[in-house]
This record gives sequence, structure tokens and C-alpha cells, in this order.
Amino acid sequence: MQRSIFLEDYKTYTITAALPYANGPLHIGHIAGSYLPADIYVRYLRLEKKEVVFICGSDEHGAAITIKALKENTSPQKIVDQFHAINKESFEKFGISFDVYHRTSSDLHHKTAQAFFKDLHSTGKFTKKTSKQYFDPKHQQFLADRYIQGECPKCENPNAYGDQCEKCGSALSPLELKHPRSTLSDQKPELKETSHYYFPLNQYEAFLKEWVLNQNKDWKPNVYGQCKSWIDAGLKERAMTRDLSWGVKLPLENTEGKVMYVWLDAPIGYISATKHWANQHNKNWRDYWQNPKSKLVHFLGKDNIVFHCIIFPSLLKAHSENYNLPKAVPANEFLNLEGDKISTSRNHAVWLNEYLSDFKDKQDELRYVLCSIAPQSKDSEFTWLDFQARVNNELVSIFGNFVNRTVVLTHKYYKGNIPNTSWGKDEQSAYEQLLECAQEIKHYIEHYKFREAQAACMRVARLGNKYLADLEPWKLQKIDPERVKQIMGFANYLTLSLGILSEPFLPFTAKKIKDAYGYNTQDYSIQKENVTPFLTTLKKLDLLFEKITDEQVETQKAKLIPPKKTTNMPDQKEEITFDDFLKIDVRVGKILTAEKVEKADKLLKLSVDVGLDTRTIVSGIAEYFSPEDIIGKLVCVVLNLAPRKIRGVESKGMILMAESENSLTFVSPRADALPGAEVR
Ligand code: MF3
Ligand code: ZN
Repeated sequence: MQRSIFLEDYKTYTITAALPYANGPLHIGHIAGSYLPADIYVRYLRLEKKEVVFICGSDEHGAAITIKALKENTSPQKIVDQFHAINKESFEKFGISFDVYHRTSSDLHHKTAQAFFKDLHSTGKFTKKTSKQYFDPKHQQFLADRYIQGECPKCENPNAYGDQCEKCGSALSPLELKHPRSTLSDQKPELKETSHYYFPLNQYEAFLKEWVLNQNKDWKPNVYGQCKSWIDAGLKERAMTRDLSWGVKLPLENTEGKVMYVWLDAPIGYISATKHWANQHNKNWRDYWQNPKSKLVHFLGKDNIVFHCIIFPSLLKAHSENYNLPKAVPANEFLNLEGDKISTSRNHAVWLNEYLSDFKDKQDELRYVLCSIAPQSKDSEFTWLDFQARVNNELVSIFGNFVNRTVVLTHKYYKGNIPNTSWGKDEQSAYEQLLECAQEIKHYIEHYKFREAQAACMRVARLGNKYLADLEPWKLQKIDPERVKQIMGFANYLTLSLGILSEPFLPFTAKKIKDAYGYNTQDYSIQKENVTPFLTTLKKLDLLFEKITDEQVETQKAKLIPPKKTTNMPDQKEEITFDDFLKIDVRVGKILTAEKVEKADKLLKLSVDVGLDTRTIVSGIAEYFSPEDIIGKLVCVVLNLAPRKIRGVESKGMILMAESENSLTFVSPRADALPGAEVR
């Protein structure tokens, strides 16, 4: 394996994690996508004695927050106050070790963002344009594109959105909709003139082609690929302001009612957070943002790639001061949950704050599993059964078991006083393997491969288990106590090394192990001369991990499914002949569009490509699935069921579902099946 043993030498490290919107709690998708990998990286840098600032905070502006406030009859400030506190606390409890968790509603942020805007404005980096936009007279506000609905000019779908028709897939602009209505008031919006500041991204094409496509070829393929297709599709100017009352006001005369677009405002939040931290710690924020000897790395999920790799760097470039551009943007893909996309609206999510209260003191268990399955290069999936298996078979049986054996035997034979002896052949060979693991961990972390890094760390635990299992000190104690001293001395060496190496991944566990040895230095070295001085006494340690029970798994799974009336499993139906069975024509279909049927809570109207044609099917699954989550899904369809009119809509066929007391799932063919394929 090719290795870089030491980090490139930067003076400081500026590590950001995407600012989460403060309009809802965090879920495991956020954690696996951005915050856990960032935290592992930062903890490693700190252990390597690098000067780092780890930045995050609440993104407290944006249309979604104002709409939520309107719907809940409260103020945006109340909403962000509530979720800022909840999310900050969840991160802290979970061991995400931000140096600063700032807020974009703070005065410092508003001033910083305004100064940034002013710099771009006064150096002529914006263009100003007037256009007509929809305005809700009842709420006295301009409407973001997706808050306008109307009839699609292409397919006559009455519920198309101002940016897109979900039925026929065409991209729209609000002005194209027939019979537009505001989703806030259901009233007809008025057209009003308004002017906005635009950032001509097209002028940065040469810069982006050189910087992203040429100089950053080593970025992760999923990141590089997204950037390339964006740049290849042609860069357009983008509005940098919005007509809204909630947000950062423009630092210009006569711009009442306008704020900075949240996507300009939020990334500047990284800079204002750094200023806030620097003020408190007697540092200079410019050392972290403008000194070329600082390394800037952005951690985020795939939906934020374009903003961090294309738009924000161009804005930084446009600023009259010299800002650093990110050296890496190790973005992850999405994490799915129990066979489906995570959906906050359907409550199909594992919420971090709920996990922390349901599983007290089990932060490392979730950290371990989320790192093991992190969607590093493609989407991945969390299931509670897999969580249980990984905790029980890996953390309990391997990691915990090894440490516990060392603790128990050291106390049984030596009352916790660690024997101090020389090493023999077995020890020397295990030591070399340990060094190898440590090098791999570093190499992988430095290349943002956290899954592989954690796996290398687990190999140290496996090594320890194997060492004890091979040498069986419990069989030797009576016959060769001197050899047992040697074995147990070295078992302690491996145990403390495991404590040191696991700190970026499992910080709570690592601390317990280090504390048991009185190990009190901040260091990531497991070399002989660093570890040996701490091998004097070992305190008693409780079991590090306990098994996750089937009951816990069931409780968590039940939380994901909306409760349904209890029905017992039905008896087997009357027997049919093979010919009866052959009458049913079941085919593979693909859901192309899905929408709610008006005034029918349970029904979704689907259009399904069944190979022979595309047909409308009404299905009673709306309580379980929201339309946007099932588009594109492969399903099984009974094709020759006599058409029926359901709520005025003709339904031609039926989608097969697996139904039991508290779950409803699609009978889904694998992704390589084609619409129209017969199911028999
Ligand atoms: N709040 C947004 C999101 O969660 C953007 C976060 S990244 C930032 O998608 F750069 F804007 F902070
Ligand atoms: Zn349409």
C-alpha cells in the first residue's frame, strides 16, 4: 500500500461541516453524511498536534423557516431558537467536537455577511436586473418558486410547482403556470416588479474549469463528477438576493424588504463563526481563511456539493481580499433507512436526540455503525438489525471482549499491577502488525476513507484477541508464570494502543481505556517509547459494550411505522388451480409520477410504466409513502385487473404490496428488472 505517513505541513486547518437548518432536529443521515466524518478527521488532526478550528452552526434563514413559522403561527426567531438549542446539545452529547457552533441570526454574522456583500457590490461583481415576480397579497410577500402552484402548460397537471411539474417532469418557471395560486394563502398571486442582484457565474467558467476540473482531479469521484456535469451544462447567472423579511438585509440604500439569498448567507456563516471563535480565543480569523498555509476542508452531503465546489469558491474568488479555496470537499452520498429514503415529513428517520435518550451512553455504538456504513462513494443503508449485528458481533465480541480479558486477567493475576518484561518473538511480530494497522489508519484518514480507517482500527482489537487466544495465558499460569507475565504485559500494551488509536472513531470508549491507565497525553503514537511509560497499573473497567437486544431492535423498528389497526395474520385462502393462477398477469412496473388524491387521505394517484403502456393506478398507500419518495421505484403490477373508478379517477391495475400488522412495503423487483417483465 502506498502511504503518506505524515500530514502535509499546513500551519492551520480550517474544517467546516455544513450548517444544518434550524427548523428541525438532526437525523442519522446528517450525521453519517457530514458530521461524523468531519469529527473523525478533526480529532485525528488534534491528536497529530495540528492547529485546527472545527466550525459549524445553525443556518437560521431561508424560505423553509419562514413558511414553517407561518404555518405554526409563530415567529421564525422562535423556531430557530428552539432547534438551535436542540441541535447544539445533540451534537455535544454525541461527541461531535466543534470548536464553535455559531448562528446565522447573530449580529456578528449579519455584519460579516453584509460586509462581504458590500465588497462584491462595490467592486462591480453583481449585475442588477428587474423582473416580474409573483406576490401573495394576503401575506404581503413575494413567493419563492416552489410556493406557487398551478396548471402545467405541457400536461395540464393542475398541481404543478413554479419550478417543476412532477407529473411530466418538465422544468418550469412560475410565469408559465396557468391559474397560479399561492400555496401560502391559496389565493391568486399578483405579478409585481422587483429587482435583484445577480452573480454572473458564467464569467467564472475559465477559473472553475482550471481550478476544479484541472487542479482538483484527486477529489472524490462522486464530487468531481457532479462538478463536471454542472460546469459542462453551462454556468448561468444566479440571483443573490430575495424578497423576504427574514434574513440578512442588504447593506444598500432603498433595498427594504430584500435579504441576501440564503446560499450566499450560509457559507459566509463559516467565516463569521470563525471570527466569533477567534475573538474568544485571542486568535486571528484571517490565519484560517486568508493565509495560504491554512488548509480549508468542507464536509457535507451530496445535495450541497455544487454550492461548495462551484458557487462559494467563485464568490470567494470574486472578493477583493485573497480568500483560500477549499483543498478538499469530501462529500458523502445519502444514507437510506430500512429500505427507504429518509424522510422528515413522513417521520421515516432516526432522530439523533431520540437515539441519545433511548440509548443512554451508547454514542460510540452509533458512531461505529454509521462510520462502518457511511455512504462514502454511493448511497448506503441503515437498518436496526444491521446495527444490532455490528454492535454485538464486532464491538461486544471483538473490541469489548479483548479489553475485558486484559482487565480481568491483569486483576486476577496481578491485582492490576502490570508486569514489566521484555518481548519475545510473538510480541515482536504482533508489534509489527500493530504498527502496520496504525499506519493504515493514518493513511486512510488523510485520504478521507473513514470506513477503511475504522476497519484498520478494529484489526488491532482482532490482533489482541488472536494474541490471547493463541497463547492461552490462562493455561500457562500454573506452569510458566514468567511467560504469562510477558503475555499480559504485552496484552496491556495492545489494549492501551487500541485506546489511543480508537479515539477519533470511538472517543467515549477511548477515554475510558486511557483513563484506566492514567494515560494523559494528547498523542496519536503507539510507538514503544510513548506507550510503555503508561503501563504501570490498570484500573478496573466495566464492560465497554453490551449487546443490543431483539426487543430494542423491535421497539426502534416500530417507531418508524405509523401504527395501524391491529389485524391478525389472515388464514390461508381457498385453493386455486394452476390455470386460475395463470390468469393473473403480473408485470414489473416503474412509478413515473405520484400525487395525492384530493380529499382522500389514503390514496395516491400513480402513473406507472408497465412496458406495454403507461397507465394510471390509484393505490391506498398515502399514509405510508409520500409521493416524492416513491417516484422511480420498481414495483409489481397486476395488469389485467378490471379497471375501476376510484374517487373519479380510472385506475387500471393494482400495485402489489406486502402487508402485515404494522408494515406495508412494496414487492420490489431488483433494480435490473425492466418494466413489462412478467412476474410468475
Ligand atoms: N443549511 C443548508 C443545508 O443544510 C446549507 C448548509 S451548508 C452552508 O443544506 F454552507 F450553507 F452552510
Ligand atoms: Zn406537466
